[in-house]
Amino acid sequence: MLIKKTKKSQLKESQLTSETHYLDRRSLLKKLGLGLASLPFIPSAQAGLFDLFSNDPSAADNSGLIFQREKLTYSSHPRYQLLKPLTPEKKILQYNNFYEFGTGKADPFEYGQQFKVKPWSLTIDGLVDKPITLNYEDLLKRFDIEERFYRMRCVEGWSMNIPWLGFTLATLLKSVSVQSGAKYVHFETLHDEQQMRGQASRRIGGSIDYPYVEALRLDEAMNPLTLLSVGLYGKTLAPQNGAPIRLVVPWKYGFKGIKSIVRITLTDKQPLNTWKKIAHSEYGFYANVNPNVDHPRWSQASERFIGEGNVFAQTRKDTLMFNGYGDEVAHLYKNLDLTRNY
Ligand code: MTE
Repeated sequence: MLIKKTKKSQLKESQLTSETHYLDRRSLLKKLGLGLASLPFIPSAQAGLFDLFSNDPSAADNSGLIFQREKLTYSSHPRYQLLKPLTPEKKILQYNNFYEFGTGKADPFEYGQQFKVKPWSLTIDGLVDKPITLNYEDLLKRFDIEERFYRMRCVEGWSMNIPWLGFTLATLLKSVSVQSGAKYVHFETLHDEQQMRGQASRRIGGSIDYPYVEALRLDEAMNPLTLLSVGLYGKTLAPQNGAPIRLVVPWKYGFKGIKSIVRITLTDKQPLNTWKKIAHSEYGFYANVNPNVDHPRWSQASERFIGEGNVFAQTRKDTLMFNGYGDEVAHLYKNLDLTRNY
């Protein structure tokens, strides 16, 4: 995304340095006794030497891994256990977009390890009869947790298959008795400049006006696919993936999946979402995955799947309408022009 940094944004997504690559490169540099500062950005095509290390887990520098993820108890949702292959856990944990920690794919992993999720408070308010505030334990214990394998497609053109743990947003919304006038659901990420370096510096945080905000139409929020995730790969979420709770809307581009949520507000007017606010000609409110509607600066017809092996191996596949979830969600948009409402 990175739209304020013209030079970097003009690179193709495939040319951006991945986190795994970055860590491997850093580890190699350490072995060679070189500092990072001594090496300029290396486009993937020229990075052959570093590729030698990219499949070797021991080559990655994990010394900064301080955050402890807890094991979760959950059931498996049979309908959503069939997706193959899953993206390896290490890549889900180390290749991220979370601009509050920096705009690089490696930054959320590198700078998120000290993030504090306890205590946490998530408030659900606005047009509801029973507003509530949930603490960290409520998030993990109050609702039954399910495992669901979902596709995740980033608007930048890469994708993953992720075994999420969570509960449906509908379960939570039903528990607060949504009022009849409510039409939209607004989400807000924690604003804490002490903990999130990108919020304290516009240079580091991609010139976003924090807190990061997102929204869904109420019927999208109530769709049985829409999850509030509290974990992945059997354990609670890591900070870089949006601990302790984040949104997962698998038929939409990944930027709708707001992380580290502290407030959910029911409203009657369509709220502005962060990326639409920054560049409304590039990012819309709906953000439904759609191979027929290109981003103004790149095609959305195909995507680079991040699976086993070198992340630059470029396993490209065709983008699926609604990311493959059309049976469940196409009816929500039957009267909407998806080209205008991107
Ligand atoms: N939420 C917040 N608060 N800040 C962000 O920068 N990035 C979004 C989304 N949620 C983002 C966010 C984008 S662009 C994507 S693609 C997904 O998180 C990435 O999720 P992942 O890093 O867990 O794969």
